[in-house]
Amino acid sequence: MCGIIGYVGKASAAPILVEGLRRLEYRGYDSSGIAVSNGSSSIETRKKSGRLVNLKTLLSTEPAVGNCGISHTRWATHGEPSDANAHPHLDQSGRLALVHNGVIENYQIIKGRLLKQGHVFQSQTDTEVLAHLMGRSYDASTETDPQKRLVKAVRESLKQVTGTYGVAVMHADVPGFLVGARLGSPLVVGLGKGENFLASDVSAIVSHTTNAIYLQDRDLVYITEDDFTVENFDGDESAYEVSQVEFTAEAAEKGDYPHYMLKEIFEQPTSIQNAFRGRLIDDQASAILGGLGLTPRELRDIERIVLCGCGTASHAAMVGEYMIEHLARIPTEVEIASEFRYRNPPLDKNTLAFVISQSGETIDTLAAMREGQRKGHRVLGIVNSVASTIARESDGGSYLHSGPEIGVAATKSFTSQVTVLALLALLLGRMRHLSVDYGQRLLKEIRELPAKVEKILEQTDYIREIALKYIDAPGMLFLGRQFNYPTALEGALKMKEISYIFASGHAAAELKHGVIALVSESVPSVFIMPRDSVYDKNVSTLEEVKARKGPVIAITTEGSTDLERIADDVIYIPEVTECLSPILAVIPLQLLSYHFAVARGCDVDKPRNLAKSVTVE
Ligand code: AGP
Repeated sequence: MCGIIGYVGKASAAPILVEGLRRLEYRGYDSSGIAVSNGSSSIETRKKSGRLVNLKTLLSTEPAVGNCGISHTRWATHGEPSDANAHPHLDQSGRLALVHNGVIENYQIIKGRLLKQGHVFQSQTDTEVLAHLMGRSYDASTETDPQKRLVKAVRESLKQVTGTYGVAVMHADVPGFLVGARLGSPLVVGLGKGENFLASDVSAIVSHTTNAIYLQDRDLVYITEDDFTVENFDGDESAYEVSQVEFTAEAAEKGDYPHYMLKEIFEQPTSIQNAFRGRLIDDQASAILGGLGLTPRELRDIERIVLCGCGTASHAAMVGEYMIEHLARIPTEVEIASEFRYRNPPLDKNTLAFVISQSGETIDTLAAMREGQRKGHRVLGIVNSVASTIARESDGGSYLHSGPEIGVAATKSFTSQVTVLALLALLLGRMRHLSVDYGQRLLKEIRELPAKVEKILEQTDYIREIALKYIDAPGMLFLGRQFNYPTALEGALKMKEISYIFASGHAAAELKHGVIALVSESVPSVFIMPRDSVYDKNVSTLEEVKARKGPVIAITTEGSTDLERIADDVIYIPEVTECLSPILAVIPLQLLSYHFAVARGCDVDKPRNLAKSVTVE
């Protein structure tokens, strides 16, 4: 996915556009650029491959002056990261500039037509083709009003393309005027005082305004410094709602932390609290999730549950599967969203589907939701980003209330997703066989989670020492059983995505079925083994690794000092009921991967090849 900002107002656009890109760099950071109109009927563009600092350096020697502009930070889809492929892209005349988040699937056909008409392209991107299409439509138009002419050109061009887009467009003939449109990629209008904004994510503009319009698919908007109009692709006025952004600019900043990822790891006592705040019902020894929009009868009639997600969200879903089946005895299965959308699984009318997504924009998860809905199923969302596409299009659901998660590696969203799934399992269980006593015990334990997480976070320096001890490891194994098999998968994903070493997660008993061939003195095995129903089995597996000289890092419950005899390193977590243990056990894994990656000089907030949310296929 990419980051887009547009600004029109009285201030100099370039500093606002660049500052907005800094806040959006987590969305993609292969290259960046800006285009500014200075009112003298020309557009100045500046763009550079690599990190944002390269663009800032260019602007310091070649400033772009004007109070209307657009900017972009890129995660490459078509064409390698390069100056030429960086956005904004210009049309043939050089008077129309465009930034785009998404994929134009039929760009090659359109490009072929334009080449025959003599168009010359400077890049390999699909976006430049769209810019030329709009420019050609603008130049051929008989409309005399340049604002209407640009709006018509954008609308007509978008009707010719297939794919996904969030775009911001400007033209030298109409300084102080921007056009935006979206289909499949988010776009937000920020309403300021004497200035207005376009952005792919509110975090880019929240320091300027908290009044936001989250555009819907097929919305087209045009803005000046003191006005805006929202239409649909047929040119009719489109309904919109002005929302208040629920977080402050500070929440989207690193504060005193060196990285967003570390800040978000340390926010988990609060974010977990936010996930269950107002949702625990003591007198019923149960939980409430108001956003589900299901009656008690409908909840009781559920006979099967499907949980869909990608990456970390799918790991949270797997923990949810164990929790729901353990507490509510409802058959539950997890589907990787990209598989679900093509697998055409049989779902009956008493199946309830959930999609889980931090960003609420992941294209595969969005497609899985739409596929379930297409077949008449109610699909609920467990989402962090308010007013995101999944949040808006799902048939109800629950927000995580974690606050913005900027680090590419998901951390607080995982523990909040698991917390919400625990509430769902408790709610469903207490409608079936779960006793009052067990329900009350779970409520107590859920309330105690934030303090227990705090206690684990105090070990960050100790965990950093362990990371340094294995800094040269070429790979790492993560092993867990039952509720902590998904935790092992999550620990492996954290490690590989920010430190770039090979790391894999396994159900611990699978070690004997091939995985143990990977055990060697240079490859540490991380055992997630709280003192639970399978603890002794994990001890046996740990012994098998040690018998082959494999180093072992064990994560276990305080008091299990017997492990110090056999494991090379032991990290203790507080006692907690088995089904909630992944919420605690994952914290040491987050810290281990963070410190390991930092020590290896990796950019933990912007790991190579990745972006925070995958909004393109
Ligand atoms: C996890 O650390 C990764 N950033 C990635 O696997 C992520 O969980 C996945 O892309 C899903 O994102 P979502 O929760 O925003 O849908």
